[in-house]
Amino acid sequence: MSPARLRVLGVERVGPYALLRLGRGPLDPGTPGQFFMLRPPGLVVPRPMSLCLAPPGELAFLVDPVGAGTRALAGLERGDGVHVVGPLGNGFRLDVQRPLLLGGGIGVAPFPFLSARLGRPPALLGFRTAQHAEAAALVPNAEVVLEPTLVTELLSPGFDVLACGPEPMLEAVGRLEPAAQLAWEAPMACGFGACYGCAVEIGGRLARLCVEGPVLGGRVRGQIPAMAGKVAAA
Ligand SMILES: Cc1cc2nc3c(=O)[nH]c(=O)nc-3n(C[C@H](O)[C@H](O)[C@H](O)COP(=O)(O)OP(=O)(O)OC[C@H]3O[C@@H](n4cnc5c(N)ncnc54)[C@H](O)[C@@H]3O)c2cc1C
Ligand code: FES
Repeated sequence: MSPARLRVLGVERVGPYALLRLGRGPLDPGTPGQFFMLRPPGLVVPRPMSLCLAPPGELAFLVDPVGAGTRALAGLERGDGVHVVGPLGNGFRLDVQRPLLLGGGIGVAPFPFLSARLGRPPALLGFRTAQHAEAAALVPNAEVVLEPTLVTELLSPGFDVLACGPEPMLEAVGRLEPAAQLAWEAPMACGFGACYGCAVEIGGRLARLCVEGPVLGGRVRGQIPAMAGKVAAA
């Protein structure tokens, strides 16, 4: 799959995060939970990002500036070019009866797009601080909790849970709701199965998360992807 060079339409601050808005070019937004590989000028290895919003003619990504790659993306300016490949991987299944979006921190990134596709279902979102929680404004019908309260404390039975967030949160959700759909993360260098940088252990075998995930169904419960040898994307 060859990269498209997309133009930056704008970068908006959302608490400590940056909402990077790109012209869509020839790319399809795909299914919520799928991801795109973004390479800003100056980087050799692209970085995986979930699609956050897909307004007409745009693709928007919510970026947490945690390292060199994400800081480069958050620091882009209108008119800059970004190499983008995608959509990649497997997103959330949308054939659910009673959806509940459950997320933590930058894990809320795919939820605005997911919420739009599912008809604005309820969402339970957890954040470290009130500043981080500003991202909840992007997700309709969201109930917000701040640490030390955990989103899993408010989870009641009877929902089809679609979750994205830090690994301990996903593990807890998988234990409470075996049928939940969980969006996992691993460092990724290629995004399409070629480098094995995203290899994780699922049920005693190595699997490439970029190909088999990032969204995995509850059926892998008890075989939660123990993150095997995280290979840093240089
Ligand atoms: C499918 C997928 C979707 C993602 N969607 C988003 C998104 O929408 N918004 C967003 O801000 N981030 C997202 N991420 C995470 C993002 O890709 C990483 O934070 C980014 O690649 C880090 O690059 P860096 O150069 O900024 O930091 P680095 O300096 O490379 O890393 C900073 C720290 O994060 C760790 N790290 C790097 N990549 C990952 C990873 N993928 N998982 C866990 N730890 C990691 C490193 O070990 C290091 O401790 C996603 C990751 C995946 C796999
Ligand atoms: S990121 Fe290269 S194989 Fe998954």
